[in-house]
Amino acid sequence: MNLRASMLGLSLLAGLGVAGVGQAATPAQIAAGQKIAETTTLGNCDACHMFTGATEAGNVGPALQNVKSMVPNRKEFYAIIYDEEARNPQTVMPAFGKNHILSPEQINDVIDFMYTK
Ligand code: HEC
Repeated sequence: MNLRASMLGLSLLAGLGVAGVGQAATPAQIAAGQKIAETTTLGNCDACHMFTGATEAGNVGPALQNVKSMVPNRKEFYAIIYDEEARNPQTVMPAFGKNHILSPEQINDVIDFMYTK
C-alpha cells in the first residue's frame, strides 16, 4: 500500500471510529463521550434528550434509551449527529459535525457512550 492509500485508510477509520470496525469501545472513549454529551458547549445532548444518568433531562427530542435498537446502524447514528438537518430540514438538533461543533473523534465518543444506554 502506498502512503496516500494508507493515509486515506486512516481518515476513513477516523470517520467510522475504531469501534465501527468491530472493536469494542474503551472505557476512556465512553467516559469522554459522556462528558461531551453533558457539556453545554459541546454535545449538550441532555438539554434536549433524556437518558439514564443525565445531569439534565430535556424533552425536546426523543428519550435516548435502548439506543442500539433505536439506531442500530452506527453510520446512520454518525450521520444524525453530523447533520440531522440532512434528514429533517426543520430539526432543532444542531448539525454538530457539519458546523464543526464536534470533531469526528468526539462524535464517535458520543456514539460509544450512547450505545451503553
Ligand atoms: C437542541 C435540541 C437537541 C440537541 C442539543 C440534540 N438533539 Fe438529538 N434530536 C433533537 C430532536 C428534536 C430530534 C427529533 C428528530 C428531528 O428533529 O429530526 C432529535 C433526534 C435525535 C436522534 C434520532 C432519534 C430517532 O429515533 O430517530 C438521535 C439518535 C439523537 N437526536 C441524538 C442526539 C445526540 C447524541 C445529541 C448530542 C450530541 C443530540 N441528539 C443533541 C433535538 C436535539
